[in-house]
Amino acid sequence: MSKKFKHMETEMIHEGYDSKEMLGSLTPPIFQTSTFTFDTAEQGAARFAGEEEGHVYSRISNPTVQVLEQKLAALEKAEKGLAFASGMAAISAVLIALTKANDHIICSSGLYGCTFGLLSMMDEKYNIQTDYVDMSDVKNIEAKIRPETKVFYIETPINPTMEVIDLELVIHIARKHNVLVVVDNTFSTPYLQRPIELGADVVVHSATKYLGGHGDVIAGLAAGKKELMEQIAATTQKDIGGVLSPFDAWLVIRGLKTLPLRMDRHSDNALQIAEKLKQHPKVKRVFYPGDPDAAGYSVMKKQMKSGGGTLSFEIDGGKEEAQGFLNNLQFISIAVSLGDTETLIQHPATMTHAVIPEERRQEMGITDALIRLSVGIEAWQDIWEDLEQALNC
Ligand SMILES: Cc1ncc(COP(=O)(O)O)c(C=O)c1O
Repeated sequence: MSKKFKHMETEMIHEGYDSKEMLGSLTPPIFQTSTFTFDTAEQGAARFAGEEEGHVYSRISNPTVQVLEQKLAALEKAEKGLAFASGMAAISAVLIALTKANDHIICSSGLYGCTFGLLSMMDEKYNIQTDYVDMSDVKNIEAKIRPETKVFYIETPINPTMEVIDLELVIHIARKHNVLVVVDNTFSTPYLQRPIELGADVVVHSATKYLGGHGDVIAGLAAGKKELMEQIAATTQKDIGGVLSPFDAWLVIRGLKTLPLRMDRHSDNALQIAEKLKQHPKVKRVFYPGDPDAAGYSVMKKQMKSGGGTLSFEIDGGKEEAQGFLNNLQFISIAVSLGDTETLIQHPATMTHAVIPEERRQEMGITDALIRLSVGIEAWQDIWEDLEQALNC
């Protein structure tokens, strides 16, 4: 159900839910039920046969979860959305549904550590091989395409190196070779970037991050064409069963209402912090797509509203210096995850990306000196004061 509002700020709040259908309840009720009763045995049979619409069992569908799925579809300009118990549940359901044994995947040169783990497992178990490719050059991608290539899997910006991939360019190549494009839109959210409008087939999210936004829920989402999403819903979502609980769906729905306000603030703060970090003598390099000097700035301007709230930087030194710096922080929390109201900081080489073998990690640009910062929505001056005192220790 799409209401077709002109502005995303209004869509975030009103899409996917009609209070008139729920006794006037302003916020969507939490349907905390595992199953749904049928009036008759025939009605149960008709629902199972797909001849009558209606809920059957909360692993298959739930009214609260459905509100979130409809909202995401509207925001991503997709035909259908699906909700999962985590970002990894969403990514694994999508990738397993879209591939079969001996297929081939082409992936951006970097990505989240557990997605790397999933792709390695798919290779070991089903010989679904993945090539990691620098997608800034068409020739690099075309050189790796094989008859078995089924999916381009893209993170942009890439976690944690913040490299930006030109979606228009990559999607153009995918179309030419009849390959599906899956984009992890976690870092940007549909408020900043909408890959489906650019021709991507599926968008996946860790809704644990900016969409939820308050560090209180683990959730995942996927959206795309109705036919593809229905295929995923009927197979890897239903039968592997990593679905979202109604309460957790409700938390993400609540988070979405303030997403535009939060994203604007995250982006403004991140730009201020990136500028300050660039000037500090103990900082070697700063990676932030919203920085006008960043390599990916022009691509960012083309496909994103702003640079988002996450950045990374290399500190002068190695692992010891990076860990020492983290330990000197006073209010900024050392924690993985990102997109929360609180500023969070972590060391990818020993935390989020520790599962990636050292050599591959170096190729991805994840050095021991690299630090990822999820800039919160506190006053940027306070965030900088803490970073600066820890750098100066
Ligand atoms: C880009 C990206 N995708 C997916 C995930 C996995 O999400 P979740 O932790 O909700 O399973 C993460 C988690 O950090 C992430 O950063």
